[in-house]
This record gives sequence, C-alpha cells and structure tokens, in this order.
Amino acid sequence: MKAAVLPALDTPLETQELEIAAPGPGEVRVKVVASGVCHSDLSIQNGTIPQPTPIVLGHEGAGIVEEVGEGVTKVQPGDHVVLSFVPACGECYMCRHGQPYVCEQANATAGGGLLDGTTRLSRDGSPVFQMAALGTFGPYAIVPEISMVKIDDDVPLEVAALIGCGVLTGVGAALNTADVQEGDSVVVIGCGGVGLNVIQGAKIAGASRIIAVDRFDSKLEMAKDFGATDTINAGETDAVMAVMGLTEGRGADVAFEVIGLGPTIEQAINATRKGGEVVLVGVPRMDVMVNLPAAFTWLYLAKTIKGCWYGSSNVYEDVPKLLDLWKKGELKLEELISKEITVEDINEAFADMQAGTVARSVIQHSH
Ligand code: APR
Ligand code: ZN
Ligand code: ZN
Repeated sequence: MKAAVLPALDTPLETQELEIAAPGPGEVRVKVVASGVCHSDLSIQNGTIPQPTPIVLGHEGAGIVEEVGEGVTKVQPGDHVVLSFVPACGECYMCRHGQPYVCEQANATAGGGLLDGTTRLSRDGSPVFQMAALGTFGPYAIVPEISMVKIDDDVPLEVAALIGCGVLTGVGAALNTADVQEGDSVVVIGCGGVGLNVIQGAKIAGASRIIAVDRFDSKLEMAKDFGATDTINAGETDAVMAVMGLTEGRGADVAFEVIGLGPTIEQAINATRKGGEVVLVGVPRMDVMVNLPAAFTWLYLAKTIKGCWYGSSNVYEDVPKLLDLWKKGELKLEELISKEITVEDINEAFADMQAGTVARSVIQHSH
C-alpha cells in the first residue's frame, strides 16, 4: 500500500510503498477511509513530540474493519469505526479508576509500535513505525482492537474521522476536563482544529462569554462561526489585558491553552480569574517549563491548573455522545473540514495549517 511516511526528523513527508502484515492476536485490519491532519502530526515532524522514524503519521481517522486477528471480540469485518489515538483496555488501574485516557496499555505504544512494541508496517524488510498505534496517513492500518469505537454505518467517515482527535480533545476539554458551567466566561487561546472544538464545547455547556484568541484573523472568523462571542488578535493586542477588559477586570472563569507554547500557557494562567480554572490542552516541546509564583498562583489566587489529555474522554461513551449531539445539530463537524485532499497533498496540508488558512484538511484515501 502507499502511505505518507515521515522518513526522518525535519524532512518532508514522502508517499512510499509499504508492506503490511496480517493482524496478530487482539489486532484488527482497518481500511482507513478518512484522516484529519492535526498539529500533533506536524509536531512529530519537527520534534516537538519525539517519535522514532521512519513513521506513518496520522492519528485522527475512521474506517471499516476488514479482518480481525485471533481473540478479537469487540468488532467484526464490516463494522465502521472511529480510531482512538489512545488505546483504552477497560481493565488496567487507570481504566478502572475512570481515566481511560491514560490507559496503561498506551505506555507500550509510545515507541511507535502496537501493544507488543512492534509495528506491522515495513519497507524492504525494515520496520516503519505507526503513530499512536494507528498511522492513519495510510489507506490500511493494523491496530489494537482497544483502539477503536464502533459507530453507525450512516455516519460519513470523513466526519467521523475528526472525532478521533480534534473533537474528542477539544469538546472533552470543555465538558470533561473543565466542566464549564452555564453562564461561565471562557477564554480559548489558539483557534485551530482543536481550539474550535473547545469553543463549541463551551457553547454546548452554556458559557455566556466565549473569548477567542489567535494570531490570525482568519481563525478568529472561524471561531465566531463555532460560537465565540468576542475575539482578540494576539498579534495586535495584549491578550491578557483584553480579556480583563471583557470580564470586568476579573479574568475568565476558565481559560484554555490550545497551542502548546510557554508564553501562551502563561497568558492562559494570567487571563484566569481568582478561583478560576486553567486547562492546558496544547502539546508543548519537552523542554518547555512553567515557572510560577506558588503563593500568587495557587494559594492567594486559588487557581486550579489542569492538564487535558484526549479531552479526559472515555471514548466508548464519548464517541456516541458526540455523534448524538451532531445528529441533533448541536455539534458542527462538516464545518471543520476546510479542504478534502489526497495523501499526496500532505506537505501542502502542513503548510496550510501553519498559514492559518484551514480548520482541518481531511485526507480521503483511495483503495
Ligand atoms: N498566539 C496566538 N495564537 C497562536 C500562536 C500565538 N503565539 N501560535 C499559534 N497560534 C494559533 C494558530 O494560528 C492556530 O490557529 O494556534 C492555532 C493552532 O491550531 P492548529 O495549528 O490547527 O493546531 P491544532 O490541531 O488545533 O492543535 C493544537 O493541540 O493536540 C494539540 O499537538 C496539538 O499542540 C497542538 C494543539
Ligand atoms: Zn491530534
Ligand atoms: Zn486501560
């Protein structure tokens, strides 16, 4: 099969012919129909998220089960599935404690393989790794059965794909991690594919003021379509001062950082009111440190700073819940797709993401 491979750090992606093995025990062969292009894919290319190479990127996908390995019980051939970039076993300590988004099975996949640490992809006999035990920039993937959620056949798969990362993460940040309440004021710093979903999650929760911050006016326009009530261009205005001006000098009840940069994390903390909540969604480089005055952050100002991984989601409950919201017209999914592309256009999609011209590019695989 032909897939988009990152050959080495800081190099363009290449469409290469790969061999794909049969599914092993507990594994499933999925025909990947669609895949979103997320900033985390780019973050592997530029080293923000360290991964071995060569690797097939892509972690926001949906498709159809083609073949199941020994012992697979959760899905069968023909099932339509949303792929989950964190496996959720339902049995480990974290899963039993209601935190499947940090399932212990994910530890094994952090090195670019499946649950046994090895990959099912190769080129001329050498292993090619799979991002997040998936690799949705290829038209087929062998993935663990605990990395997918069955969905109804009538959901368009390019819409379903987006749920796999951006929607679960962004909407989950607002509804699960932060628990935004009716009437809250919220600030969202970074209005990309994930940030737009934080905005629509905050809207669903009933936030009365949703302040969007970005450096591109194009993104701020999209933010308004997804429910932002106010916008701040951080390239032109001091974002923290502007948030204070919109919240009677208090700061927002809840602030979300959805970029992953030290300075914007600081902005989120400073734009939050006393007693408020800060939610860190963006994935920073490994060397980004946060240095804060302990007394004047946590004690006197009583702020809570929370990390948000995968929207604190339980994928088995949240995927159907999000699709219900979409069916009721309360969640925008088609509107997130700015461009439908083929896998050959992947480098252009990365450039578009950095130029601020798209919410999401979505790859439609040909088979
Ligand atoms: N100030 C304000 N906005 C900024 C700044 C900045 N200094 N730097 C970047 N942005 C904006 C971009 O203009 C863009 O709209 O942040 C947004 C980031 O969006 P995307 O590149 O589409 O990224 P997205 O896929 O939404 O992911 C955001 O979440 O999942 C993680 O790894 C992912 O860290 C990344 C974050
Ligand atoms: Zn992602
Ligand atoms: Zn688990």
